[in-house]
Amino acid sequence: MYPLIRNRRLRSSEAIRSLVRETIISPSDFLVPLFVVEGKGIKEEIASMPNYYRLSLDNLTKEVKELWKMGLRSVLLFVKVPDNLKDNQGSEALNENGLMQLAIKTVKNACPEMLVMTDVALDPYSSYGHDGIVADGQILNDESVEVLAEMSVSHAKAGADFVAPSDMMDGRILSIREALEDEGYTNTGIMAYSAKYASAFYGPFRDALDSAPVDIKNVPKDKKTYQMDFANRFEAIRETQMDIEEGADIVMVKPGLCYLDIVREIKNEVDVPVAVYQVSGEYAMVKAAAEKGWLDHDAVMMEQLIAIKRAGANIIASYFAKDVVKLLG
Ligand code: PBG
Repeated sequence: MYPLIRNRRLRSSEAIRSLVRETIISPSDFLVPLFVVEGKGIKEEIASMPNYYRLSLDNLTKEVKELWKMGLRSVLLFVKVPDNLKDNQGSEALNENGLMQLAIKTVKNACPEMLVMTDVALDPYSSYGHDGIVADGQILNDESVEVLAEMSVSHAKAGADFVAPSDMMDGRILSIREALEDEGYTNTGIMAYSAKYASAFYGPFRDALDSAPVDIKNVPKDKKTYQMDFANRFEAIRETQMDIEEGADIVMVKPGLCYLDIVREIKNEVDVPVAVYQVSGEYAMVKAAAEKGWLDHDAVMMEQLIAIKRAGANIIASYFAKDVVKLLG
């Protein structure tokens, strides 16, 4: 008696394994998140994100040149705003000479062909650490959307190629699209955080930007009234389809690893590119376990990223982008 089929033949050497491998990863898969701060000569390591830094504009120039040399062609910009510039309306977000607007110009100056995407949400600018305007213990939807649309136009004006609304207000994609069209920014794209869950994995990111919801009376302590309940699946499809109807060019699922069922489902349902954000907490877990010698950093990193791509991601936003490219050699 012999086995009818011997699957192990296709696993018998690295040569045959690489010949039949279904999923490969390359620098062009990645979108690199970058954290920008005011000042000069600053490159501060983020405590909960080892080997990841907040950069001042001069160091941002150096960084994007290095990324370009490594074959990384897209960045996603975030800014850390000083407390004295924060308010409930996120007014600083609309400042033409604000940090984000300067960061966009800095990247385009350093590297004109680098694709620049920008985070659009109020939280880094909000004195309450929320993605929208707070009133009577609520996050106002339509008033926040107005600011997000103006913010998007301001980013487009500064030279952003894509805006990436990460706020989860209702109707914001349509309002942003209309505002961009009205102002003549017909080529500026929208990457919508469509299925963004209320996740505890964002902790290190909120440390990086000092953007966590503040603990004061009449301010919601979490983002559960706008980010999605992680127990839900159908809602992710609905959110994504609505964003596409409203004009999103790219849709995103966030976080990554715990949500790969959602990624596959969305990939099967829609015909626009699907991005996945492997978030700060996912990065921190691997770094921490590797530091203790409990996990093999590079092996676990690759396994997770291949899994994200295998699930259906066309684009991966990841803090591991440079690590991976170095490993690929
Ligand atoms: C804010 C925003 C968050 C992230 C991206 N944009 C945090 C949040 O929603 O609180 C998280 C990214 C990460 O954890 O790496 N709108």
